[in-house]
Amino acid sequence: MSAFVEFKNVKKTYKTGEVEIHALNDVSFEIEKGEFCVIVGASGAGKTTILNILGGMDTLTSGSVKLDGAEISAYNKKQLTAYRRYDVGFVFQFYNLVGNLTALENVELAAQICREPLDAATVLDEVRLGDRMTNFPAQLSGGEQQRVAIARALMLSPDILCFDEPTSALDPELTGEVLKVIGSLKSSESTMVIVTHEMEFARKVSDKVIFMADGVIEEMGTPAEIFDDPKSAKLQNFLNKSQNLGIDDMESGFNAREWAKVAQDGEECLKDNELIRF
Ligand SMILES: Nc1ncnc2c1ncn2[C@@H]1O[C@H](COP(=O)(O)OP(=O)(O)OP(=O)(O)O)[C@@H](O)[C@H]1O
Ligand SMILES: [Mg+2]
Repeated sequence: MSAFVEFKNVKKTYKTGEVEIHALNDVSFEIEKGEFCVIVGASGAGKTTILNILGGMDTLTSGSVKLDGAEISAYNKKQLTAYRRYDVGFVFQFYNLVGNLTALENVELAAQICREPLDAATVLDEVRLGDRMTNFPAQLSGGEQQRVAIARALMLSPDILCFDEPTSALDPELTGEVLKVIGSLKSSESTMVIVTHEMEFARKVSDKVIFMADGVIEEMGTPAEIFDDPKSAKLQNFLNKSQNLGIDDMESGFNAREWAKVAQDGEECLKDNELIRF
């Protein structure tokens, strides 16, 4: 039997004028169902590119990507829209909640685009926001807003949950509560892939760690293998640096663009279906 997630010889090349950037260069890995996989690496290493491809938001240059046996890398635009809508839950660095809707309404919004939505209030309870449902985003802390975004992703009961630096916009004291919630979602049913710079969290919670460097998987293994027994000089260097640096120094540069794309895609999906009008 093949793995739940299967990346095989994936290449992603961006062309900007004469310049070619190999964001992913022959990347192959597998994730089993229910596994909690963390992707780490320096800025520009290709972490977001992996998540965007897995989440059906970006296409690949060559290779193949399968989820539960289905080759998503061969999907057309319509199939990808359905895949994003029904099969993947995505949580980003910036939560992009609708400002004039309450926490509950923001989560209910997701219910309108999925097939078998869960109960929004129950899901908000699950992320420990049962007593904040009527608050507007501006009346919530960054950590609480991010938990609303997690609840929104959970509404789909997605096959796979992807998180791209879910805590890097948060103050350190708010990071813990969000990581706690993410850790509590770990189960044999939900397959999770998280890009994070929170190494302690990765070490404690993950089953598998992928270390990316310059578009390739430099090292991959259990948290013990990666954190306690790093083999390559690049990984050793990265781990030393991340011990010495604050979160701000490791900030990502692409999230604004990612969000703009997602917001645009999301609005398109919703308009297509004429379910909601903004
Ligand atoms: N749309 C794009 N056009 C051109 N180059 C891009 C584009 N998106 C990403 N890249 C390049 O691809 C490489 C990988 O980018 P990616 O966003 O996956 O890195 P990352 O590991 O997520 O970094 P960060 O930690 O800063 O978020 C980088 O060199 C980046 O410059
Ligand atoms: Mg990134």
